Amino acid sequence: MGDSAKLQASGKDYEFPVLSGSVGPEVIDIRKLYGQTGKFTYDPGFTSTASCESAITYIDGDEGVLLHRGYPIGQLAEDSSFMETSYLLLNGELPSPQELADFTRTISRHTMLHEQLATFYRGFRRDAHPMAIMCGVVGALSAFYHDSTDIADPQHRKISSHRLIAKMPTIAAMAYKYSVGQPFVYPDNSLSYTGNFLRMTFGVPAEPYVVNPVVEKALDRIFILHADHEQNASTSTVRLAGSSGANPFACIAAGIACLWGPAHGGANEAALNMLHEIGTPDRIPHYIERAKDKNDPFRLMGFGHRVYKNYDPRATVMQKTVREVFEALKVNDPVFEVALRLEEMALNDPYFIEKKLFPNVDFYSGVILSAIGFPTTMFTALFALARTVGWVAQWNEMISDPNQKIGRPRQLYTGATQRNYVPLDKR
Ligand code: ACO
Repeated sequence: MGDSAKLQASGKDYEFPVLSGSVGPEVIDIRKLYGQTGKFTYDPGFTSTASCESAITYIDGDEGVLLHRGYPIGQLAEDSSFMETSYLLLNGELPSPQELADFTRTISRHTMLHEQLATFYRGFRRDAHPMAIMCGVVGALSAFYHDSTDIADPQHRKISSHRLIAKMPTIAAMAYKYSVGQPFVYPDNSLSYTGNFLRMTFGVPAEPYVVNPVVEKALDRIFILHADHEQNASTSTVRLAGSSGANPFACIAAGIACLWGPAHGGANEAALNMLHEIGTPDRIPHYIERAKDKNDPFRLMGFGHRVYKNYDPRATVMQKTVREVFEALKVNDPVFEVALRLEEMALNDPYFIEKKLFPNVDFYSGVILSAIGFPTTMFTALFALARTVGWVAQWNEMISDPNQKIGRPRQLYTGATQRNYVPLDKR
């Protein structure tokens, strides 16, 4: 018998098992809490609640550690590729050369979209946000790929997973093309996953598109950095949607909707807008004061994180990548200087030190994506593209988990107690 935790409630003693993972804090198993005590726990935002068991990603927020299947994110970002990291997330181990070649080929064979989906796009306004289009089109995939929506069939799950990872770049690139009024560019499977996405986004049928290898590498790295992040809001949304047995396309559409919010995936768009608004380094102190002012809703976007109370390890790689891209594209954007100075000033300010607020992955990603040529509205769509593999890996893990149940949180009810209906003419 392992360790246990004792609870005293309403004068009675209760004991609950304590579970240990392979690393990280122990957890108190309260599955029998309500049955035994008649009480629930109250944990808005789930800051103290493990909603599942998972073997995919590990984060130590205090130390600034992020591991995928045990491998540090810095090593993956430096030495791996998005395809290899995707294989790792899905399968648990790094692939052999043959396994990687087979996986890459399988993904590239699923990059095309059902032709009728092109007409679906035309139902949107041209100025629709790409995330609005992504929610709609990804949700609509279940109407086009019936042959892979039986979640009880492992082969269906595998094919739908591959389809989602493969089609997401095509869907995102088409959302962009639609907004700028250019023709959709079909995938070219001779290119890498990321090279193909760049061509579908920035290429035009009128001339050949040459993929810049520095940009390709930088974007591939950004995809790796966004591939998974354990039980964040959008991943938990995917799991919650999937817990009812909904098909994977519907679940990923739910994840995309959640990711859109400015406190989550929308933060890189908000961070870049903020850097532009600040404009020049001399205006930074004013914005830092605003961020510290309790009466001002303004926050430093790209700063702070629910889990990281240290430098986000992904932000370190991002900062380095900005330099590489700026050098390769000969970009001289003052916004990078503002970002560096803002980071330095905030990291030396007692407010940010005391609250352990550090730059997160979104602080620099917008600067890079903008230099590559993506409009700010596409940033979150790129995040969704990369996170799809994480969502899919987590969804698969959940479906295969024998302890899986429909997600159904409880509440602390503070509304009216039972009362009788009053007819309209008596009110
Ligand atoms: N600027 C100024 N103050 C901040 C910031 C910030 N960016 N972030 C947190 N704080 C302050 C809060 O005001 C709060 O102060 P208080 O304790 O005096 O009330 C304290 O720090 C704790 O903040 P919470 O919002 O309670 O922390 P939480 O863990 O709930 O929020 C979050 C994390 C949402 C990321 C928050 O830091 C934030 O809004 N950051 C800006 C948005 C952002 O960059 N989001 C990207 C997250 S990463 C991702 O999704 C990939």
